[in-house]
Amino acid sequence: MDLHTTDGKRRNFLQTLGAGAAAAAILPLASSCRRAETPEASQDGGMTAETPKHENAVAMHGQEAEHKAPTWQTANAPMSDDMYPYVLPSLPYALNALEPHIDAMTMEIHHDRHHAGYTNKLNAALENHPELQRRTIGELLCSLEMIPEEVRSAVRNSGGGYYNHKMFWTIMSPDGGKEPEGALAEMINRDFGSFAAMMSEFDQNAGKVFGSGWAWLVVNGDNKLQVVKTSNQDNPMTDGMRPLMGIDVWEHAYYLKYQNKRTDYISAFSKVINWEQVAQNLDV
Ligand SMILES: [Fe+2]
Repeated sequence: MDLHTTDGKRRNFLQTLGAGAAAAAILPLASSCRRAETPEASQDGGMTAETPKHENAVAMHGQEAEHKAPTWQTANAPMSDDMYPYVLPSLPYALNALEPHIDAMTMEIHHDRHHAGYTNKLNAALENHPELQRRTIGELLCSLEMIPEEVRSAVRNSGGGYYNHKMFWTIMSPDGGKEPEGALAEMINRDFGSFAAMMSEFDQNAGKVFGSGWAWLVVNGDNKLQVVKTSNQDNPMTDGMRPLMGIDVWEHAYYLKYQNKRTDYISAFSKVINWEQVAQNLDV
């Protein structure tokens, strides 16, 4: 499935998500974004958790009389609580630790230049926006419509790049490539039939990303695991889904070693996936 972040398409996507009672028993909070519950949210026009339900209903009715004002959404996703100023995280292993699957030169350029670039550009975009500096990276990516137009694209692209790569480093490991266990394994079997079937769908989606983008394993709004793909540096959080792990299929992630053989890179990636970390990403 392709994800899009335009408001209309996002609404259409969310409307296609039905109820999933069985999955809800495993994960009570699947959707990555929910209405902010901070005093600031109220100042922004949002409704807080402290507001009685009937007052919420009145307020919502009033909004609908004009239009539904967007409100800040908080994020329910791993590593989404970072705030300005953003700092390039250190790699959790040596540059050559993922060889022969991912080479050291690619890791160095990818981390030290590309990820650093996204981090610096995100900070630059927020430099003159103190109201955005108080928001977490998860809130920013969950609430792109709340961001002033002059920096919205920069936050979307550089903020996504910052967050996506920060997760990317953690879900790879020189000890990776095993199979998931526990609750994650049960969910994979429930929603895909088997681990092999899930990986087949994941790899196919990664191969089908047109141009630059990512393929993801997510928990969708139906509390089910799903494989999706996004363009550029878009993140599934923007579409209300919780990312558990993703593969970067921008050419900068693989071209030095694999040139145009993206399929070989995707296969190599599967040998370094840190399933223990992916399982931990369920527990946010
Ligand atoms: Fe990348």
